[in-house]
Amino acid sequence: MSLVKSKQRVADHGEVFTPAWMVEAMLDLVKGETERIDSRFLEPACGSGNFLVQILRRKLAAVELKYGKSDFEKRHFALHGLMCIYGVELLPDNIAECRDNLLEIFAQYLGLDEDDDLHRAANFVLARNLVHGDALTMQDSDKQPITFAEWGYLGKGKFQRRDFRFDVLTHSSAFSAEDSLFAHLGKHEIFTPARTWPPVTVAELARMQEESP
Ligand SMILES: C[S@@+](CC[C@H](N)C(=O)[O-])C[C@H]1O[C@@H](n2cnc3c(N)ncnc32)[C@H](O)[C@@H]1O
Repeated sequence: MSLVKSKQRVADHGEVFTPAWMVEAMLDLVKGETERIDSRFLEPACGSGNFLVQILRRKLAAVELKYGKSDFEKRHFALHGLMCIYGVELLPDNIAECRDNLLEIFAQYLGLDEDDDLHRAANFVLARNLVHGDALTMQDSDKQPITFAEWGYLGKGKFQRRDFRFDVLTHSSAFSAEDSLFAHLGKHEIFTPARTWPPVTVAELARMQEESP
């Protein structure tokens, strides 16, 4: 794979992709987290997903080890693994490629075709989690504050979604510092979700994908 699309893009956006061997070496520095299905990763300049793709592969390998024998559990935990992967990317072609790359790996692992509810649900999740926007201004391409969905798996096929603003999340470490003025408030009081959604199933997520513009 070429690490550069054009000299102009390197000059304009610093677009140089990370080679596979380096991605693996860097992910090995946090190996345990990459192999945990529900660990959350955010790549603020994700390009076409060189890091996120390998993180997904590692999570799916963990799903196979733990839940490979049950189709129901495998499908739901694989979706939850995907739900825990986030990215921001400035360039529209890169973010589209990134979503496609992750969806292809997910679909291949579970043997899904495009009509499968789980394929549509994954598409919906990727459109929320992989944001076309600017990680520096923390605004999306419509100049709205970037909001990330936190997905939890409640079991029995139900997922819980809570939305948090990126700019608020990035201040979390300052608030929780021991000597901070706000330390006594605790994280939960300051970082309340912008929105909490009712629990949803794969079929409901698939329907949301069909209805989304
Ligand atoms: C050095 S490349 C790395 C891509 C990918 N992380 C990788 O390692 O292969 C940097 C990427 O960041 C994107 N980018 C540059 N400025 C950005 C910004 N302010 N917000 C989000 N993405 C940005 C570029 O379009 C490019 O795809």
